Amino acid sequence: MAKRILVTGAGGFIGHHLVKRLKAEGNWVRGADIKLPEYEASAADEFELLDLRNYENCLLATRGGIDQVYNLAADMGGIGYITAYLADISRNNILINVHMLEASRQNAVAKFLFSSSACVYAQSKQKSPDVTPLVEEDAHPADPEPGYGWEKLFAEEMCRYYRHDHKLATYFVRFHNVYGPLGTYDGGKEKAPAAISRKVAMARDGGEIEIWGDGEQTRSFMYIDDCVEGLLRLMASDYHDALNLGTDQLVTINELVDMVSAAAGKKLVKRHDLNKPQGVRGRNSDNTRLNKVLGWSPSISLDQGLAVTYKWIEDELRKKTRIPVQSQTQKGSA
Ligand SMILES: NC(=O)c1ccc[n+]([C@@H]2O[C@H](COP(=O)([O-])OP(=O)(O)OC[C@H]3O[C@@H](n4cnc5c(N)ncnc54)[C@H](O)[C@@H]3O)[C@@H](O)[C@H]2O)c1
Repeated sequence: MAKRILVTGAGGFIGHHLVKRLKAEGNWVRGADIKLPEYEASAADEFELLDLRNYENCLLATRGGIDQVYNLAADMGGIGYITAYLADISRNNILINVHMLEASRQNAVAKFLFSSSACVYAQSKQKSPDVTPLVEEDAHPADPEPGYGWEKLFAEEMCRYYRHDHKLATYFVRFHNVYGPLGTYDGGKEKAPAAISRKVAMARDGGEIEIWGDGEQTRSFMYIDDCVEGLLRLMASDYHDALNLGTDQLVTINELVDMVSAAAGKKLVKRHDLNKPQGVRGRNSDNTRLNKVLGWSPSISLDQGLAVTYKWIEDELRKKTRIPVQSQTQKGSA
């Protein structure tokens, strides 16, 4: 049955894709964000420009019989950004999350989903590139990423408390590195797959590419369509505890660069900058609980997803004339 749904952060990467999917399934959708989507118009029925750190704005966003809230709004970015702005990120996101929870309660929203992150996991469990995949219990005892990880962990707790005290049906999900087209690829907030795609697109074949750290740090990456599918499945479930949402295909950043270079048809020399932040040494998702709870797990391969993402970023850079427009001969031989 069609629902009335609010997506916060609808001007951002995951929110924008989620709105499209919810609309395609026949729902009525309101998007809220401090900015409009950057690369194409929102599919939302209503899109409201609101600063959700402000409680009154959260009340506005949740007004009018909203059934479900996907609370994706957050001040966030890649490892460079989240390690540089600890106080600002924490303050901004705590305000958004506590106000969105309370406004959802006040406006009698039935279901509230909060987008948490693998950054909540204890850093002590992520010291080796050959990391043991993280199970949901590995977030405690708490030792998360400073700033961003702590505020996510606190917001997860707030979700538990609102369910306990106020019977609000809360959900929270820990994303592991989501990537795909229509995501930020420059400006400082971009994450590894987008940053690497941009660098590869801008490098000449045979040229150099700068990599943060020694490139042996490991991660798993989830394509955006799998992320959106997981979100819908979780919201339709009656599971209210912590849940990983990611793939368990572990790759080093060096391997990720090789995959993007292959998608671009380029051979590049890697130059490692050991002074740049690289985050935890290794991180992977254990999907045992995800499979059990949702009867599903992400299946789009990294090769497939990167090919689409790289192509989109390359096209964007051409449109902005930051790389030369392809000649007919080059196009023919590609
Ligand atoms: N992309 C990932 O790999 C990843 C990983 C873990 C967790 N997450 C979480 O998923 C959610 C969505 O991430 P994303 O990748 O789409 O990021 P994004 O930055 O593209 O989207 C977040 C959106 O929130 C909006 N926002 C920030 N402050 C706001 C405010 N005060 N009021 C209203 N809107 C505000 C931003 O303008 C942005 O459009 C976030 O909560 C993020 O922490 C994402």
